[in-house]
Amino acid sequence: MMSVMVYGPTIQCGETMPADIIVGLQWGDEGKGKLVDALARDYNAVARYQGGPNAGHTVFAGGSKYVFHAVPSGVLHHGVMNVIGNGVVMDIKQLAGEIRDLQASGVQVTSENLSISLYAHVIMPYHVEEEKQSSVSRKIDTTKRGIGPAYTDKVRRTGLRVIDFYNYDHTKIVEAAVNHGCANPGEVYSSLSNDFEFIRPFVADTSALLNELLEEGDNVLCEGAQGTMLDVDHGTYPYVTSSTTTAGGALSGLGIGPKHVRDVIGVAKAYVTRVGEGPFPTEMDTETEERIRQKGREFGATTGRSRKCGWIDLPSLKYAARVNGVTRLAIMKLDVLDGEPLVKACVKYEGNNNLSLGHTNPVYREFGGWTESTQPARTFVELPHNARNYLQFAEENTGAPLVFLSTGPDRYQIITE
Ligand code: IMP
Repeated sequence: MMSVMVYGPTIQCGETMPADIIVGLQWGDEGKGKLVDALARDYNAVARYQGGPNAGHTVFAGGSKYVFHAVPSGVLHHGVMNVIGNGVVMDIKQLAGEIRDLQASGVQVTSENLSISLYAHVIMPYHVEEEKQSSVSRKIDTTKRGIGPAYTDKVRRTGLRVIDFYNYDHTKIVEAAVNHGCANPGEVYSSLSNDFEFIRPFVADTSALLNELLEEGDNVLCEGAQGTMLDVDHGTYPYVTSSTTTAGGALSGLGIGPKHVRDVIGVAKAYVTRVGEGPFPTEMDTETEERIRQKGREFGATTGRSRKCGWIDLPSLKYAARVNGVTRLAIMKLDVLDGEPLVKACVKYEGNNNLSLGHTNPVYREFGGWTESTQPARTFVELPHNARNYLQFAEENTGAPLVFLSTGPDRYQIITE
């Protein structure tokens, strides 16, 4: 087990390669946003590589609350460049609104600290409408932000990209609207033009920008949205999102090469949650689940839906560590388990080992709980004995060294190596 101390001014993640990837190891909502916020000041850039406004996280800093959906939370840190990469799908109105809200609350967001890829695909209003009517979306219980239809258009090669708006390509935009059966195709552009003009100054070739930074020896934190079990290839298909949430997505979603990657930081909660349909084998009994949901405030930042809560699922965590090539593990929200009389960890599934097939029977190892609050702990050794046992077991069974441990909602409640 690591030697641990309070999160300090500089985190040494290794010396040679300058891009680190933060990736969710569960079904999203692992607390990646908080970790990004805690680490951002040690990076020159924070770059979001996939997903869209289906993601959402809240950062509490300096007594204020900030909600992020598309903009990387690195904007809260002076001198950090924030990038929305080509792998992201972008809702122009939503993004313009989010930037305006941040600016209104005093956060500096300018073209000096935010860059949006010319090649990101745009979520059009008709994508959102289509998704509302879609039976697939109902079955999966998606966030209904137009994510699936926008990525479908991208792969079908009929999508619109930021560059089409940047170049005022009306013909292309009208043609796309006609193909989607819009009643007033000519109005689609004008309905978005004010918001697009607002974001125009931020638009850039972000792959070129990031490569330039990396070549100069700057370091970049690549931020994934959602989690491994929602990855379109490696998740619980078809109950997944439409993008590559895993570490590989960082390279294609930002246009950088593998030679730049140093660490893959896998983020897991001390328990698991899931929103939407699909396999979720370790769901807690109703009473425990409700208690954890309330303590952990497990309600979606984007849709407000209540999240299902379950015990940590080590077979799926080990799998996630493997498909991402995790080099460092972060466990978040340990404090939510404080006061639980018993804490369980799923160690294997009985009968069927393939989560995608469903009907798995989890086998648990039980741990004694702890009554003390873990929130004041500033080092690993200050944690209650049973909490340490539990973490050590989770670390060993995930197969990656535990380097970051979050014990509370505050920005600085992170114990690190
Ligand atoms: P979509 O991404 O809106 O297409 O939704 C696909 C699935 O991913 C649904 O089960 C959503 O609930 C889930 N999902 C999408 N984004 C998030 C997220 O940020 N956190 C947790 N679940 C998410």
